[in-house]
Amino acid sequence: MASRASGLIGKIDVAERRAIALAVVFVAATLAMIGYANWGMGITLPSCVPQDKLFQHGSIAKHGDKHYEVQFLAKMWGFEPSRVKVPVGSTVEILLASKDVTHGFQILGTNVNLMAVPGSVTPSHIHFDKPGVYSIVCHEYCGAAHESMNGVFEVSADTTDISAEGLASDDAGRKVLDEKGCLACHSLDGTAGVGPSFKGMWGQTAQLVNGSTRKVDAAFLREMILHPSQNTIKGFDPVMPELPVSNDEIKLIQQYLEALK
Ligand code: CUA
Repeated sequence: MASRASGLIGKIDVAERRAIALAVVFVAATLAMIGYANWGMGITLPSCVPQDKLFQHGSIAKHGDKHYEVQFLAKMWGFEPSRVKVPVGSTVEILLASKDVTHGFQILGTNVNLMAVPGSVTPSHIHFDKPGVYSIVCHEYCGAAHESMNGVFEVSADTTDISAEGLASDDAGRKVLDEKGCLACHSLDGTAGVGPSFKGMWGQTAQLVNGSTRKVDAAFLREMILHPSQNTIKGFDPVMPELPVSNDEIKLIQQYLEALK
């Protein structure tokens, strides 16, 4: 058996033997480079996770002295959290996921440049050794309000610990807005979107496209949700869909909007 095999190799042309040896060397070199990138340089690819196991909200956590973790949830059209404050000298582990479509995540002026891919978690980390305001932008076109999809890292010597804004609270009304998809078009911080921002809306007088004016109160909110096309606010397109929202849910939204003003 062995003599037959060695006899066969003996018959292979010298040039062929060199080609085989070269191929083996290239494959080994490629594997070595992939291994070095992974274990030596710590470059990791997004890891796939079942969608229902993915984190559904952003969060912040403290691992140690000036060592933090931020889970960013990218979604149409913002990041959760939207603003993170950390002390100078902080190292922040970043975990990025998407709630809907593919988004970009670039911290301007640094080499953190990631993609938020649905169904996967993209890890990275950053060390802030200089104070400043670092903008986070979505650099992957993701729909109507892509341009306004951004966030901020605020790094300051006056800050003693991590804090964040724009995290989902356990607020029931906010949860309804989130689940019904309202927040895709209506921001909570005053930024203009496809529809008017919810911030400061409560109690205001709204000009409608049909020429009438309405005070934004419980009665108007109800009509607005149930018959959006008849209650379009001036300056916006009549694109709000009729959604199945129960009376209880409208009540929760009302409480939330009242508190948000
Ligand atoms: Cu998200 Cu562009």
